Amino acid sequence: MTDLPLNRTIALSLFTVVLREGRPLEEQADLLTRPLDPRDRGFVRMLVATTLRRLGQIDMVLNHFLDKPMPAKLASVRDIMRLGAAQILFLDTPGHAVVDTSVELVKRGKLAPYAGLANAVLRKISRDGAAVSDRIDAARFNTPKWLWLDWSARYGEETAHRIGLAHLAEAPLDITLRDPATSADWAGPLAAEPLPCGSLRRLAGGAVYDLPGFTDGHWWVQDLAAALPVRLMGDLTGKAVADLCAAPGGKTLQLAAAGATVTAVDRSARRLRRVSENLARTGLTATLVDADATEWRPEALLDAVLLDAPCSATGTIRRHPDVARHKRPDDVAALAETQAALLAAAAEMVKPGGMLVYCTCSLQKAEGEDQIAAALAAGLPWERDPIRADELPGLEMALTAEGEVRTLPCHLEERGGMDGFFIARLRRI
Ligand SMILES: C[S@@+](CC[C@H](N)C(=O)[O-])C[C@H]1O[C@@H](n2cnc3c(N)ncnc32)[C@H](O)[C@@H]1O
Repeated sequence: MTDLPLNRTIALSLFTVVLREGRPLEEQADLLTRPLDPRDRGFVRMLVATTLRRLGQIDMVLNHFLDKPMPAKLASVRDIMRLGAAQILFLDTPGHAVVDTSVELVKRGKLAPYAGLANAVLRKISRDGAAVSDRIDAARFNTPKWLWLDWSARYGEETAHRIGLAHLAEAPLDITLRDPATSADWAGPLAAEPLPCGSLRRLAGGAVYDLPGFTDGHWWVQDLAAALPVRLMGDLTGKAVADLCAAPGGKTLQLAAAGATVTAVDRSARRLRRVSENLARTGLTATLVDADATEWRPEALLDAVLLDAPCSATGTIRRHPDVARHKRPDDVAALAETQAALLAAAAEMVKPGGMLVYCTCSLQKAEGEDQIAAALAAGLPWERDPIRADELPGLEMALTAEGEVRTLPCHLEERGGMDGFFIARLRRI
């Protein structure tokens, strides 16, 4: 009997629980890979993430080599073949090793009689799969159809294509410094390069905990796009600011580091513990409130509110390829209702003359531009405070005609891209 490495059985469990039960990849990878050493943990995460990223293409290659469609009852065999194909086609694992371990995985499951099928198909993929795979438009066919249609209609087909291409690669590690003035001091030790608007980018990745300055709280991990909303809030020294929907707290840390008196509100006590840990590590302070932000109100009106509303997260598919497999159009519609309720609540918390910044990490217009247009059309005492090009040096392409920010995963694509975000800044009349 072939030896079956533990990392392959764990990869199958992880893939199954993420794809079939809809659980988040990062959370489950953290839990399920604990028995493995760091190298194998990295391998399992990479294998499952790659399979999710390339699922459309992998299924087209499998279908090419299958004589007839696989019935739904063979789902677990199909999943083993998908992971096998990902290793052969995208991770450069030697074909014979992949065939052996995949066949062994099938033999040890309830569908052992189908080991021959897995053997035959994966051998063919090992021999001729690359030629078939290379002919597929990867950007398009790894994008779920509803997203492809939505993005093509909204951004144009060429941009939808560039977004799809950006999703094929792992995202780099972006860093926000507690003290932005120390950027030049940290670039060298972190082997990172400066990005527009003050973030650093480390292309080599690596274990965050081992990098200089992390344990001492000099910086935190935050995508360049996610760092923009607070940077667009101007001088916050001494200002009373609420961070609504705050956990895990990247923006709370930025607000506190900028000198604001911060109240961070989130309805998840479990996720607020992460905010608390992050504050402790960085030596920053904020008041944490476990509450539903549609119901919570501050004791006195605030200078500013940041609302980073819960959303479909379709702007983060580079980092979270599971999002593309989990989200449906219905989710966007339901989340848009929540966003409208949160925006109406946030609007009641700010002083006349005060600021409201609304943002989502979604590429869907319904969760961004449409929310602000609807809120302003409803006659609330608010107006846009248009963001200016000089506030976004190096990222001017993300500025819209309305003075809002719309970043795309294909912006700065030559330097590794960025998350898709929508940001609007409003002023209370
Ligand atoms: C996009 S994440 C926020 C990310 C965070 N702002 C950061 O920068 O790290 C959305 C958060 O909204 C919280 N949330 C969702 N609905 C909420 C509500 N009605 N009231 C308060 N928090 C809510 C979730 O628990 C989740 O932590």
